[in-house]
Parts: sequence; structure tokens; C-alpha cells
Amino acid sequence: MDSIDIGPINKIEGHIEASGAKNSILLLLAATVLAKKHVIFSRVPKIKDVEKMCFLLNAIGIRTSYLSSDVLLIDPSDAKYADLTGYECQEVRTSILFLGGLLGRFGKAKLRTPGGCNLGKRPIDFHINAMRMMGAEINLEEGLIEATSLNRGDCVVDFPKSTVTGTANAILAAANRQGETHIHGAVLEPEIDDLIVFLGKIGVDIRRLGILIVVNGGVKADSVEHQVMGDRIEVGTYLIATAIIGGRLKVSGINPVTLAEVLRCLKQVGAQIMTDEDSIEIKMDQRPKALDIVTGAYPAFPTDLQPQWSVLSAISDGISSVQDQIYIHRTDHFEELNKMGAQCQLMTGGAIIKGVENLSGTTLVARSLRSAAAMALAGLKAQGITKILNISHLYR
Ligand code: EPU
Repeated sequence: MDSIDIGPINKIEGHIEASGAKNSILLLLAATVLAKKHVIFSRVPKIKDVEKMCFLLNAIGIRTSYLSSDVLLIDPSDAKYADLTGYECQEVRTSILFLGGLLGRFGKAKLRTPGGCNLGKRPIDFHINAMRMMGAEINLEEGLIEATSLNRGDCVVDFPKSTVTGTANAILAAANRQGETHIHGAVLEPEIDDLIVFLGKIGVDIRRLGILIVVNGGVKADSVEHQVMGDRIEVGTYLIATAIIGGRLKVSGINPVTLAEVLRCLKQVGAQIMTDEDSIEIKMDQRPKALDIVTGAYPAFPTDLQPQWSVLSAISDGISSVQDQIYIHRTDHFEELNKMGAQCQLMTGGAIIKGVENLSGTTLVARSLRSAAAMALAGLKAQGITKILNISHLYR
């Protein structure tokens, strides 16, 4: 049965290690399409999306095997071009990165359009346009993308709006292209920096100058090891959980800079935050105060923590507004929270939330990874049992 029952807890206390970041390893796995020698990734999170990306790598002859529970060996020595037109592409949003990866490695790509979390419309026009700016000819029909040959020489890619995987896709296509690529309007997300560091290790000449990324294509044949950065969204979820429930939690293996805006908000609602280079500790001994948040591209408040933060707002003292500027349709959790007694009034792209002291357990339906996480936090706070249906979203 795809459900979980959660009961309330009084306090969160302890010390945990951050997992490797989902939104980093998915980019890094796509980047191994360009690698010529073995790659070893450590701190690989055990999640479904990683399995799905490995399946797609295997389809083009790149072998993947675990050396231990979180150390993954990638062997690209038998990589060969193949179309990725199977429906597996729809099971993971980052399958779109094989567009840049295959073009960069083999000069052509044919793949099915991607899937991913249910967050409303998730177009891929920025990806397609970026490849066109690098000279690729692209045909789109019936859920398939077919692309041929990037050009040579210097070129400019310009994104009209922030896009994380769009930026990664342009980087992958540029990484093996002959010539210098200037990517303007690149996002500042730390997961892109993790990708840049990895590509540097396999010999790509790549530099970030703020929202400009300059790539001089060319992969050298090096075997490399790379530790995946800590998952700021997972850690943010644990910190918000502690602010909701109360208690004291230390998380190691995370760079606090990657969560600066979230830590600022947590302090404002009454949490004490202690950090060092590689850890964050939170102490919370009061009901959170209300606070308005607006999501945006990094370094703003991350959309991937908006549903979890909405649970905090739902039990805060006062009225808060939650506005999502990245996914205006990321709102399904508000209605689920209202079933528990929360007072969320939906508006375009968010909600006005009047905090209540208690939530009551009931049956909820998760429709995406982060809303499933939010419901789990609500279940830990609510009186009685909370049953969450479609909990498999959480294992992505
Ligand atoms: N957009 C377009 N056209 C495009 C691409 C994006 O209009 O071609 C729009 C989107 O609809 C959205 C905005 O631009 O409104 C930003 O989307 P972005 O491309 O940045 O999203 P993404 O790269 O597909 C990544 C994360 C998401 C995270 C978003 C925003 C990965 C694997 N996924 O998605 O993570 O929400 O950036 O930060 O990195 C999650 O982890 O739960 C998750 C959904």
C-alpha cells in the first residue's frame, strides 16, 4: 500500500548527517555522458530518481555499480550512442539533460520529453532554445525531441529567466563543443557549482563569473572521484521540522551558506541557529512567529522548501503570506493542510495563512515530493494519526 501513518512527537533532538543532494547528483550523473574514464561518486543519496538516471545511462552503454551503499562507480568505457525514446524519460525530469549530454558527446540526440514532479506546467523551451543558440537543429514532435550537431566556434547562450536544469543542459552541451560558450543568465544555485567543479575535474575549462558561465569545450581523459554536496533542501526540511515541533537538532555535512536565506527566516520566527563551516544547529523552544516569505531563484528562499515552510506558517502565531514565484501551481498542500484544521486561504501562487495552535490528523494525498515532505511534518505535529496516501513521491 502506497501510504504511511504518522503520529505526533513532542520534541526533535539529535545529530544527523546530511545526505548528498538529489538536485546535484542528478546533474552529475547526466554529466558522466561526457566522461571518458571511470568516475566515482561518493555520498550518493538512495532515491528513485538516481536509479532512473542510472537506467538511462545504462541504455547508452555506461555501466553503473555501487562499491558500497553510497559510493557509485560509473564506467563510460563502452559508451555508445542510442536514442532514448522510451517512456522511462518521462519518469524523471532530469532525463532532459541527455539532450545536452548526448549532443556534447555524440553530436546528436533523440529522446522523449521528460516528466517529474506534478508542479503544473513544466515547459522545456529554455533548453531547446539554448541548444539552438549553440547551432543545433531541433525537431519536436509527438513527445520526441530530435537534435543534430552543435556548431563550432564562439557562441552566446542567453536565458530569459532563471532555469536550473536549463543552465546545466547548456553547460553539458558546451563542455565538449569546439569553441568558447558564454552562458548568460545562468542561475546561481550551488548544485550548478557542484557540476562546474566536477566538470573541471574531468578536464573541462569552465569558469563562473556570477550569472555568466564561460566554457571552453574539451574533456580530457581522467578518472575522477567526486563527493556530492550536502542536500540543502533535505537539511532545510529537518530544520523546519525542528522549528515546528521544538527541540534541538544538529546537522553535519552541510555548508550553511547554501541555506542562508532559510536560516535568516528561521531566526526571525524565533529559532536559535548556530553554524560552523560544515554544520548547522537549531534550537527552538517557542511557538514560531508568523513571517511572510516569497520564493525565488538562489539565493532567495527555495521553492523546494515552500510546502514545508507552509506547515510552519500553519501553526505559527499570527498571519503569514507564502508566495511562490517559481511554481505558481505548487499549492496542492494548502488544501491538504486545511483538512487538518489549518487556515490557508489560497491566492494566485500561494496562500495567506492564519496560524492555528493545533492540527488534527486525517487522511491526506501527496502529489509531489516536497508536498509529501510537508505532510509528513504536519503529521508529526498534528494530534492523532495522519495517513498520507501516494507516499511514494517521498522516495524520489
Ligand atoms: N521554465 C520554463 N521553461 C523551461 C524551463 C523552465 O518556462 O524550459 C520555468 C519553469 O516552469 C519554472 C521556472 O522556469 O517556473 C524554473 O524552472 P527550472 O528550470 O529552474 O526548474 P528545473 O530545473 O526543472 C529544478 C529542480 C526542482 C526545483 C527547480 C527550481 C532539479 C533536478 N530540479 O527544476 O526541484 O524546484 O529547479 O528551483 O534540479 C524538487 O527537488 O522537488 C524539484 C522539483
